[in-house]
Amino acid sequence: MDSSRIFIVGANGQLGTALKQQYPDAQSADIDELDITNRDSVNNYDWSKVDIILNAAAYTNVDGAETDEGRIAAWKVNAEAVGNLVRASWQNKLTIVHISTDYVFDGTKTEHTEDEAFAPLSVYGASKAAGDLLVSQIGKHYILRTSWVIGEGNNFVRTMLGVAKKGIKPTVVADQIGRLTFTSELVRAIDHLLSNNCDFGTYNVTSSGDPVSWADITRKIFELGNYDLNVTNTTTQEYFKGKEGIAPRPLQSTLSLDKIARTGYKPVDWKEDLEKYVRKELAK
Ligand SMILES: NC(=O)c1ccc[n+]([C@@H]2O[C@H](COP(=O)([O-])OP(=O)(O)OC[C@H]3O[C@@H](n4cnc5c(N)ncnc54)[C@H](OP(=O)(O)O)[C@@H]3O)[C@@H](O)[C@H]2O)c1
Repeated sequence: MDSSRIFIVGANGQLGTALKQQYPDAQSADIDELDITNRDSVNNYDWSKVDIILNAAAYTNVDGAETDEGRIAAWKVNAEAVGNLVRASWQNKLTIVHISTDYVFDGTKTEHTEDEAFAPLSVYGASKAAGDLLVSQIGKHYILRTSWVIGEGNNFVRTMLGVAKKGIKPTVVADQIGRLTFTSELVRAIDHLLSNNCDFGTYNVTSSGDPVSWADITRKIFELGNYDLNVTNTTTQEYFKGKEGIAPRPLQSTLSLDKIARTGYKPVDWKEDLEKYVRKELAK
């Protein structure tokens, strides 16, 4: 694989940043250089120098997508723009790598396999499911379905470290269950699938280890950071009571990792990567 012929879209987000580190020779653009919702800009890009599109762009504001403006933006970026990339991939015989989410499911099953039927609860989830359907129409595609992404950017771990630094004892939801996914794992899985010419299709990719709640993850973050602060459990319903414009969230977010494991990929336990991440954050 010639990494100079990779094109990273949405390059300044959490995953895009990690992909740029993995493939420093790759071409890359975020919305300022290439707005993927602009059909003409995508059509006019010089695709002759590209073999693989890595699409790290998305509208990821889950609650924002429930507003009138956000609903339009989410559908534009997560569905319409994905259609533009799919068209470019098809016309130029490129491979497209796309990222999906556990939010395409309703979270009633304790573990989700790649072939579970879509049942999104939120606008964000529905717009992402539409993107998946578009990508899956062309042969040369990988869809990596993931959950609870942690990388360089705003994320749950950084929020909770900020809370701890202020000495706040948080109340955290304990009925949403899943696993963190460090961007290093997503990048490693993308590289594994591409380098080994694995069969095209959809693969669940998260960090491995025990599925836990956000409250449990907060306790682990505090333990690793040596913060002696109590974490109180709450339910999703209780936490969002009286708040307007909150998107419904799946309660069970755990993705089965059996399919990617069968390709020889070994995911790293989220606790191992969380420890490294917290250390790095506290050393800043
Ligand atoms: N974060 C999670 O917990 C999570 C969970 C499951 C799945 N995922 C999926 O994982 C992928 C990566 O997520 P992430 O956390 O890295 O997202 P992120 O940090 O929000 O990054 C998304 C990037 O896409 C850019 N973008 C937005 N609209 C664009 C457009 N029209 N053209 C070009 N670029 C555009 C954003 O730019 P601006 O910031 O300027 O808008 C941002 O740099 C996404 O597909 C997401 O749906 C994320």
